[in-house]
Amino acid sequence: MLSNQAGDGKRSSVHGHWSSRMAFILAVTGSAVGLGNIWKFPYIAGQNGGGAFVLVYLLCVVLIGMPVMMSEILIGRRGRRNPVRTMELLGQEEGGSRHWKLVGGMGVLAGVLILSYYSVVAGWTLAYILKSVSGAFVGATPDAVGAQFGNFVGDWRLIGLAHTVFMALSIFVVARGVERGLEQAVRFMVPALLLLMLLLLGYSINSGYFGQGLAFMFTPDFERLTWGSVLAALGQAFFTLSIGMGAVMAYGAYLPEETSITGASAAVVTADTAIAMLAGLAIFPLVFANNLTPADGPGLVFNTLPLAFGQMAGGVFFSTIFFVLLSFAAWTSAIGLMEPGVAWIVEHFNKTRAQATIAIGLLIWVIGFGSVLSFNVLSDFKFLAGTIFDNVDYLTSNIMLPLGGLLIVVFAGWVMCRNSTSDELGTSGALFKVWRLLARFVAPIGILIVLINAVR
Ligand code: TRP
Repeated sequence: MLSNQAGDGKRSSVHGHWSSRMAFILAVTGSAVGLGNIWKFPYIAGQNGGGAFVLVYLLCVVLIGMPVMMSEILIGRRGRRNPVRTMELLGQEEGGSRHWKLVGGMGVLAGVLILSYYSVVAGWTLAYILKSVSGAFVGATPDAVGAQFGNFVGDWRLIGLAHTVFMALSIFVVARGVERGLEQAVRFMVPALLLLMLLLLGYSINSGYFGQGLAFMFTPDFERLTWGSVLAALGQAFFTLSIGMGAVMAYGAYLPEETSITGASAAVVTADTAIAMLAGLAIFPLVFANNLTPADGPGLVFNTLPLAFGQMAGGVFFSTIFFVLLSFAAWTSAIGLMEPGVAWIVEHFNKTRAQATIAIGLLIWVIGFGSVLSFNVLSDFKFLAGTIFDNVDYLTSNIMLPLGGLLIVVFAGWVMCRNSTSDELGTSGALFKVWRLLARFVAPIGILIVLINAVR
């Protein structure tokens, strides 16, 4: 991805466009598909009552997520710098203000905060690889699987160690700039993950409770929908698509001129949404089949999927593969979360990539202990949204990402001149008009209405 196309300015690529376009789509898909789809989506949907939440989430993905993603990519490609500098540069060029760089700055901060707790959960998936291999789930009862999770996260040294291992892996990859190797991993990981989700789906269709799971996910009960859950749906849309914090903008900076931004965005959004829906369809039937509650919280996936693996033939094998793939998915997302910060430090402070990564990585690692301790030592220490973990999650997903997204679409839709955006999107026809309508009106107004009603 960070090949010689980067920073060459306009019209590049003697290296065949297809592979660069693919590289970009793979990098963005790798960042989008992660814990957000398989761990977070089911538990947030469960906490917010299912059906109506899912519907709002899907609307947010299409009407807000899609135009925000396109805006981010086009801004990134036009600026071709790190998100802070890009926003500053284009802000001056298009709107005569340097303050737009604050949007980039907030993105860098959001990336740091998100990875601080993301890495903790990614550590759980690493640990669950070992549990799977050791056969810990074979024939296990719901109580036993629940107790395993409880005991595990209850020990801060264990999950602290897992968090440390995951951060070390992420720092290692980003510092060496070997994202290209990971592209190969994504190429294999996303289809493999899809296959395994289909296998789990098959299992849950056979569980006898598939209808109940389906009904939970797709029968909207608007009585139960609060502004709080609408905000959760909006936040989840931003989180799962990796938008609102400049990550996609940073990746867009390395995108060849002639690649279709709309096509790339549509591919990423489709893959990401499909995986989240499959995760929900695999998990909720298991919840009902085993008398668990959908509103179980962050442990939901770790309390349900091992049950299915524990009962199926070849479960040890499939369970191991599944947690390996999920760890990979988390890994490729971690890289995207660091990219804005690393790119900014490299350009702004003239540091090497390795130095920048280690600095940011250590900061994230330290902050992460707030989330590590939220499940044990400090589990009773609650304020505002709950534990430290809950607060970091709420602040980033529900406030910083939507706010970042709002400013990004306003910038692309209102501050940038029409020609710059139609030039980047490669059309001024119907598609462009739809994008512009969404970016200027639907997305900003939608985000504002949700934010105002939910937060006041
Ligand atoms: N989309 C990722 C997931 O679903 C999480 C994420 C949020 C992310 N913002 C990001 C990943 C920015 C990379 C870059 O797991």
